[in-house]
Amino acid sequence: MPEPPPDQYGVVGHPVAHSWSPFIHGMFAKNSRQNMVYRLYDIEPAQFRREVLRLLTSGVKGLNITLPHKQAAAELVNALSPRAARAQAVNTIALQPDHSLLGDNTDGIGLIRDLTVNLGLNLAGKRILILGAGGATRGILAPMIEQQPSVLVIANRTVQRAQALAEVFKDAFVIESCEFRAVQGPPYDLIVNATSASLQGQMPELPPGLVSEDSVCYDLAYGKGRTPFTQWAAALYAARICKGWGMLVEQAAESFLLWRGLRPDTQPVLEALARKA
Ligand code: ATR
Repeated sequence: MPEPPPDQYGVVGHPVAHSWSPFIHGMFAKNSRQNMVYRLYDIEPAQFRREVLRLLTSGVKGLNITLPHKQAAAELVNALSPRAARAQAVNTIALQPDHSLLGDNTDGIGLIRDLTVNLGLNLAGKRILILGAGGATRGILAPMIEQQPSVLVIANRTVQRAQALAEVFKDAFVIESCEFRAVQGPPYDLIVNATSASLQGQMPELPPGLVSEDSVCYDLAYGKGRTPFTQWAAALYAARICKGWGMLVEQAAESFLLWRGLRPDTQPVLEALARKA
C-alpha cells in the first residue's frame, strides 16, 4: 500500500530564513520515524492572521510561531494552554481534532529542561538573576518559579517593566525588581540574559560581585561565537557559560510532543548542533 502523504508542519516568522527549526524537527521526525514535513513560512505582520488561518485550514496540522508574531498568535487561537496564557505569547499552534486551534508556549519549559536535564542543575533554593523584562522573560518566569529558587531578581533598563512582571507573579513568588546598576550581591547561582541587548552588540552595565566561580551564566540568544554577555561572564570566570541552543532544541521537542504525542530524543540533535554552531 502506498504511504499516505506526510503531515505538514512549519514555522511562521518574519524574517525566518535563518531558523534552525526545519533542521531540528527534520532530525526529530527522521529519528522517530514520523511521516511529516516541516517548512518555513515568512509572513509579514499585516498578513499574519489571514495566512496562518489559510495554512491551518488547508492541511497544515501545526505551526511554530516566532518573532514578531508570538503575541498575535495568542490572540488568534481559540484556546490557550495555562502556560501560554501566563506568558501572553504562543510559540506553538496545534490543530485539534474538532478543528479548533490550541495555542501553547514551550519556551519556558524548554529553558528549564536544558538547565535541569541537559546541564544537570538543581535550581531549588538557588539565587537567580534575570536580565531583561520583555516577552522572553515573561515566558520563562512561571516555570522558573516552579523550581523554587530562594531569590529571583529581575533587572531591567526600564525598571517599571520589571516591577510590572513582579506584580503579575506576586501571588506565586516575591520577585525582586531593579535597574541594572542596583543589582546586589552576593553572587548568583544562575544569571540568565533575556535582554535583546546582544543584538545591538551591547551588555547592560552591572555592578561587580554578581558572578563567582560557581555561577552559571546562560544567554537565551544563540548563534555562532561569543556574545557581549558570554564575554562578560568569561571575564569574570563564571563556572559555566551557555547559549540558548539547548533551550531551542528542548522547546522544539515539547512542540513535537504536543503535535505527535511522543517526545523525541533531543541528544542527537544537541550533538549535531554543537558540531555546527
Ligand atoms: P523579547 O521578546 O526578546 O523579550 P522585548 O519584549 O522587546 O523582546 O524585550 C527586550 C528586552 O531587552 C527588554 O527588557 C529591553 O529593555 P527595556 O524594557 O528597557 O526596553 C531589553 N533591551 C533591549 N536593548 C537593550 C540594551 N541595549 N540594553 C539593555 N537592555 C536592552
